[in-house]
Amino acid sequence: MDFKYQAAYLASRAAASAFGAEVSPEAMLEYIETPPTPDMGDFALPCFKLSRVLRKAPNMIADSLKAAIDSPLFSRVESVSGYLNFYVNRAAYAENVLKTALEQGENYGSDTVGGGKTVVIDYSSINIAKRFHIGHLSTTMIGSALYRIYGFLGYKCVGVNHLGDWGTQFGKMIAAYKRWGDEETVRRGGVDEMVKLYVRFNTEAKNDPALEDEGRAWFKKIEDGDEEALKIFRWFKEVTLKDAEKVYDMLGVKFDSYAGESFYIDKMQPVIDELTEKGLLVEDAGARIVKLDEWNMPPAIILRSDGATLYMTRDLAAIKYRHETYNFDKNLYVVAYQQDLHFKQLFKVCELLGWDWAKGCEHVNFGMVSFGGQSLSTREGRIVYLEDLLTQAIEKAEGIIAEKSPELENRSAVARQIGIGAVIFFALFNGRIKDIDFTWDKALNFDGETGPYVMYTHARLCSVLRKAGEAAAAPDFKALDDPESQAVLRLIDEFPQTVKLAAQKNEPSYVTRFSCELAKAVNRFYYEHRILDDDASATAARLMLTRAARQTIKTALSLIGLDAPEKM
Ligand code: ARG
Repeated sequence: MDFKYQAAYLASRAAASAFGAEVSPEAMLEYIETPPTPDMGDFALPCFKLSRVLRKAPNMIADSLKAAIDSPLFSRVESVSGYLNFYVNRAAYAENVLKTALEQGENYGSDTVGGGKTVVIDYSSINIAKRFHIGHLSTTMIGSALYRIYGFLGYKCVGVNHLGDWGTQFGKMIAAYKRWGDEETVRRGGVDEMVKLYVRFNTEAKNDPALEDEGRAWFKKIEDGDEEALKIFRWFKEVTLKDAEKVYDMLGVKFDSYAGESFYIDKMQPVIDELTEKGLLVEDAGARIVKLDEWNMPPAIILRSDGATLYMTRDLAAIKYRHETYNFDKNLYVVAYQQDLHFKQLFKVCELLGWDWAKGCEHVNFGMVSFGGQSLSTREGRIVYLEDLLTQAIEKAEGIIAEKSPELENRSAVARQIGIGAVIFFALFNGRIKDIDFTWDKALNFDGETGPYVMYTHARLCSVLRKAGEAAAAPDFKALDDPESQAVLRLIDEFPQTVKLAAQKNEPSYVTRFSCELAKAVNRFYYEHRILDDDASATAARLMLTRAARQTIKTALSLIGLDAPEKM
């Protein structure tokens, strides 16, 4: 229950009965403040704001309103120097929060605000014939978390992996494959083998200019739909996706569409025509561009001087396609901030085209990931592959469990949940625009602000509940009057709002941090109070609190893509 709104409602009714005045609850809500210290109440209405309407002195107004209010939701209402102070009835608050959370169960925090609306989310969007490395962790996990969060709020979500599967490099790769590769090796070596071929091409092309021609010729063949070229190209794609799929499985990530850049090859011409018709396309040294200097941006290049299309051209076709296919309310691009300019240009061109619907598009950008203080560089070989990182995380988690709880059944399954969960939690803990540095200690520590810490707290609550069994008496909510219980209650109460805010700002970190705050509050509560008390009614209330906290932690973790094992 929204106690602040209840206070506003009571004040509004009191104004009507004491003064015959009409001040709506919404207007009262605008005036109500949170007092600087708790001894001044949970909410306060500064009555001088009503003086003009009621034509009385603030302290008189406060006195009269107080006299007209009588509600079980507030233990006290006081008139103090022109302020009307409301003291929430903590037992009523506890009862209300816990009953709401437990009645709604797994759905607590969900909503129907997204009903009938569609969100397209472009995330992960890997490049063919390149390895999946830790630089892709953020886009993959932020996107996937947003997918879950929006879904929880009732939106229909469309997850798109906008594959980087078009460009001259694929001609070069085929040329290299034809010269030095063979099917068996690539099949066995996967993406690594393709990368090797590509590197060799670039090295040898320096001394052998004929290679570049070969590469161009093969790309032309792909473009012209040559059967052999297409067959090899599609196979490269398959091999890359099979590799990526392993990682997606580990991370629990899914997509509804793999329509990548090559999907738009035959969909660009109508956009180019529209740009031309609307007089937006100008020639510049043989290239076709849309000028954006009026908005302090370099031009958007639509066609190169050799007639080739670009990343931008394909994104324009894609945005139009998504609008026509999904009629989205929002179309999100979860892509690193290095592409800020690209998306600004893209959205500006849409605006110039008069595509009003493009207002629903947003670049959900994020910072860089480094590993142990070192930036990741392909060129210098400092690359951490995601699959290796996850495998190592699982191994390390296994080591920790072997030490902490050697008795645990299905240890390897739990280690997998903890190891992978630690990595995901780490990726989603900070505001997304921050650069982050991954270290094992920061991710896997059981005591810090980590995934394992929150998961462990959840498992501990499960264990308390298992031992306690059914409550033996009706709950006495007055037993939850203390600051530690109230802190847990307040967090549980705030959960639905947190989920909505996370969607509004496209910030899964709100949910990640929330889960951590709740875990901390629960541990403080657990440290200060005996759950299994001599007083059976107090026990019953604390068990309800424990159950609601456990459930809320589990839901929060699931929204960011973490499992919550019941035993650890
Ligand atoms: N493949 C691109 C890259 O790795 C990201 C694509 C993002 N999506 C888009 N529609 N541009 O940089």
